[in-house]
Amino acid sequence: MSHPSAEKSGGPAEAATGPFGLPVDAALAADAARRLATVEEMLTECVRGDDALLTEASRHLVEAGGKRFRPMLVLLASHFGDPDAPGVVPAAVVVELTHLGTLYHDDVMDEAPVRRGQESANYRWTNTVAILTGDYLFARASDLLADLGPEAVRVQARAFGRLVRGQMQETVGPRSDDDPLKHYLQVVADKTASLIAVSGHFGALLSGASPHVVHTITSACEKIGVAFQLSDDILDIASETEESGKTPGTDLREGVRTLPMYHVLGGIGSGPDDARLRELLVQDLSEDDALHAEALALLRAHPAMDRARADLRRWAEDARTELLTLPDIPARDAFTGLCDYVVSRTG
Ligand code: IPE
Ligand code: IPE
Ligand code: MG
Ligand code: MG
Repeated sequence: MSHPSAEKSGGPAEAATGPFGLPVDAALAADAARRLATVEEMLTECVRGDDALLTEASRHLVEAGGKRFRPMLVLLASHFGDPDAPGVVPAAVVVELTHLGTLYHDDVMDEAPVRRGQESANYRWTNTVAILTGDYLFARASDLLADLGPEAVRVQARAFGRLVRGQMQETVGPRSDDDPLKHYLQVVADKTASLIAVSGHFGALLSGASPHVVHTITSACEKIGVAFQLSDDILDIASETEESGKTPGTDLREGVRTLPMYHVLGGIGSGPDDARLRELLVQDLSEDDALHAEALALLRAHPAMDRARADLRRWAEDARTELLTLPDIPARDAFTGLCDYVVSRTG
């Protein structure tokens, strides 16, 4: 199948299966794979320290893999400028280390037993070890970031502040006079879209792309980031396996309300099952496996799931519309492909 970029460049561009199964330009796919291999080497190098437990605990999840979604965004965005610019690959390492640090902390907060298909650090060791390991990863990220200049440091610091605020607001929940859906979307934007937006921002900024491109990629990645978290929340309910590398049903068990639950509580459905589900959603399900299983089954079958999927598609479409204002290069096709990926992903 010929790729649209073949006509644009007038050259014989070949299609290849790129990151996340996207049909992207072969040269772009090869370049991204090559740079990602360097990112992997740097990640391994970064977590080699002189404390045996810190090294072991940080390598635990680096080596477990993960999708490397954020580093890939940095690398793809850098094609709007000079992808060989020296800050690009280190920036990809910075966003992954930061992301990973937040995962160690998030699993403590969510009492999650499994991450990246492995026992979480809090289960494998203790909460203390997981918290310190997360802090260590932030320290390693800051060390690399210092070489990327004050603007990059500020971009990261502000996003990190948003991320923490999002986690805090999720913990606190909406106040009685807040619109719960609005509160939820603000949490999602802050806790997840912030770092995904930084990834696009870094790739464009550090490759020397124009201010207009930097702004557009950042804004589109913010929307992709919201969509990414909506799909994470849908998967937490809909997955019947641990394909995501996590334990499905964790949000419900921990009392973390997500979009489908807000749609149920907001009044979608008026049958006896809907009333029963609403009753369950306001209870503590963390200690009772039977109640948790009942709520999960009712939620999976509820029309609120389709409503949430429609919301997810809208966020991805809004991101695509924005991306289509960017220069028409193969990296743009990769980004629009990511809009499909976030809607259909299963892991
Ligand atoms: C998990 O992120 C946390 C969220 C913001 C949803 P990812 O789904 O990117 O996790 P990894 O990096 O692939 O493990
Ligand atoms: C994702 O939190 C946001 C951060 C880790 C900052 P979640 O709790 O929704 O993510 P998963 O589902 O555990 O990966
Ligand atoms: Mg979690
Ligand atoms: Mg969480």
